[in-house]
Amino acid sequence: MSDRSYYIAGNWKMHKTRAEAAELAKALVAELKDGKHKYLVAPTFTSLETVGPVVKGTNIRLGAQNMAAEEQGAHTGEVSVLQLKDLGVQTVILGHSERRHIYGEDDALINKKVRLALRHGLEVILCIGELLEEREAGRAEAVCETQTVKGLEGVSAGELSNVVIAYEPVWAIGTGKTATPEDADAIHAWVRKVIGKLYGADCAEKIIIQYGGSVKAENAAQLMAKENIDGALVGGAALKPDTFAPIAKFG
Ligand code: 13P
Repeated sequence: MSDRSYYIAGNWKMHKTRAEAAELAKALVAELKDGKHKYLVAPTFTSLETVGPVVKGTNIRLGAQNMAAEEQGAHTGEVSVLQLKDLGVQTVILGHSERRHIYGEDDALINKKVRLALRHGLEVILCIGELLEEREAGRAEAVCETQTVKGLEGVSAGELSNVVIAYEPVWAIGTGKTATPEDADAIHAWVRKVIGKLYGADCAEKIIIQYGGSVKAENAAQLMAKENIDGALVGGAALKPDTFAPIAKFG
């Protein structure tokens, strides 16, 4: 591995009440206080105000799972970047496959969100990843390239230092099927090359690329031993301290 640092993030998706979220956050603060890596938790919108003060001043960042593409206005049901910043949110996950495939978000919309978040100084975790049929058709690289290029349209090299990419093959999310470390690393290397073409070798070398999709304590170390895998975006295993802490403390 290069001198990139590892970044382990927990995406809590649509789980937990405020009390449950606070309990998990408190346990993680205690478990990870001596952790060597960079950490993030991304609770549901309704728990951000509760979890924020728990992680504030610790080595765990506060993340949101989505945001609106507009700053404010008549957008019923949406949450804006200004509101997230008001809650102390530091990072926003954008383009998650559940946003793309359940809620129909396309690359243009995701790009608009990415640019808005970066303009407001938030760190962005941009998720990319192919469907099973795309992988079987030999199109995994092409899909990931398109999602990367379109997701980052209009993003400057300076802003890119606030961008993390998360490769999450859709067929590996919540299915218990993990990509092999070799298959994941091949896509990460490809995406790094795409970043190199867009921004130059130095940016490509520096960008953090997380893997997501059924990451567990049992496979985390093998995945992260790969040259191009710089961390993890964890779903199911992020919901309990007992399953998240061993992943976060690997190595
Ligand atoms: P699982 O770890 O449950 O497969 O979810 C991965 C994910 O989608 C994280 O964003």
